[in-house]
Amino acid sequence: MAAIALKGTIVSAPVLGQLEVLEDGYLVTEDGVVAGTFPVLPERYAGIPVEDWSGRLILQSFADLHLHAPQYSMLGMGMDLPLLDWLDTYAFPTEARFADTDYARAVYRQLARELVENGTTRVCMFSSLHTDATLILMDELERAGVTGYVGKVNMDRNGAPGLQEDTEGSMRETLRWLDACQDFPHIRPILTPRFTPSCTDALMAFLGRLAAERDLPIQSHLSENQAEVDWVRQLHPDCSQYWETYAKFGLWGRRTVMAHCVWSDARERQAMAEAGVTAVHCADSNQNLCSGVAPVRALLQEGVRVALGSDIAGGDHLHMFDVVAASIRASKARRILDGWTPAFLTVAEAWYLGTSAGAAFFGAAPGFAPGSRLHALVLDDRTLPCPHPLTARERLERAIYRRQPGAIRAVWSDGRNVYRAG
Ligand code: GUN
Ligand code: FE
Repeated sequence: MAAIALKGTIVSAPVLGQLEVLEDGYLVTEDGVVAGTFPVLPERYAGIPVEDWSGRLILQSFADLHLHAPQYSMLGMGMDLPLLDWLDTYAFPTEARFADTDYARAVYRQLARELVENGTTRVCMFSSLHTDATLILMDELERAGVTGYVGKVNMDRNGAPGLQEDTEGSMRETLRWLDACQDFPHIRPILTPRFTPSCTDALMAFLGRLAAERDLPIQSHLSENQAEVDWVRQLHPDCSQYWETYAKFGLWGRRTVMAHCVWSDARERQAMAEAGVTAVHCADSNQNLCSGVAPVRALLQEGVRVALGSDIAGGDHLHMFDVVAASIRASKARRILDGWTPAFLTVAEAWYLGTSAGAAFFGAAPGFAPGSRLHALVLDDRTLPCPHPLTARERLERAIYRRQPGAIRAVWSDGRNVYRAG
């Protein structure tokens, strides 16, 4: 058995709101699986290789539970429109380009590298509707060492020129994609009806049956923007709430992730809590597209599973340190809007949401739990000036807010060392 130890200041989030800190400790893995964290190296590990990261932070790596891979090529552009106009004007024409597999290969290779170098090792990702480009995306993520779920997007209505399927074609291509993507060990398929306005009832019903037959997870968007919520109400007059348009087709359960949930009221939140649906909070995107400010505290208090997403390119930050900071800011805005009542997210809470909470969707235990495959990064903050000797908690806070370029020195994903700074 190949055991190694990483030595450094180990910070993890085993529970929402609590950080576990081990100054100058040892994180031991055996064949890529966490054996434990120890203040001194136990006798039984005497002689194993020790990577000495003394003075640096050893942190959990990130889980980004909502992002649109093809929109990576428009990241940082087109922020002047609200959601539905933004989709038609910017997102859809950009995604249409991914009919070109050479273009897809180049963009996705760059995206996969940037994810790993910035410590994102788990993803729940939208591709475009193109099967071949989706397989290329899965291949590039696999090669770079990213793990998680990727979905070929289904959209058979309200698309754009060059970006819409017919219903039969969408079904056929989904089956072709599922057949072709079986051999990626770390990147698995997730069914991806883009959102209710993009999919006919026949397509939604097909996807619901497929999810049940093949035990597949599901990702989509929910209650992101008021105009979108109104549109869904017109499209489904039989449903009093947006979530029911997914639930009635079997697209609502413990293996479902729903991005945004900005306008989810108490009843919709209860439906999420009862079904075990994960809400993905995408604070940057919600602000950029003028969608609103998601009620994160209410979601958490009411027992909804919550994780974080960059939602590029509605969100303008791919790096999860920024996404964690944005979630804290959004919770403060919510507090201001709600008359200073709900408590905003603490650093420890937001850190948990960006790491352990996202990992939970993949069945992983929180923190550096023994028995989990290692997802970790090493962060070197030693060159920054300090006003006083910092605690590990203060160093984590500064890492989140400063996102010092080049600070990430090494990354492990599913037990494999996938990045080392040159
Ligand atoms: N709703 C449907 N498609 C999208 C998308 O690409 N981005 C965002 N933010 N919301 C969506
Ligand atoms: Fe999105």
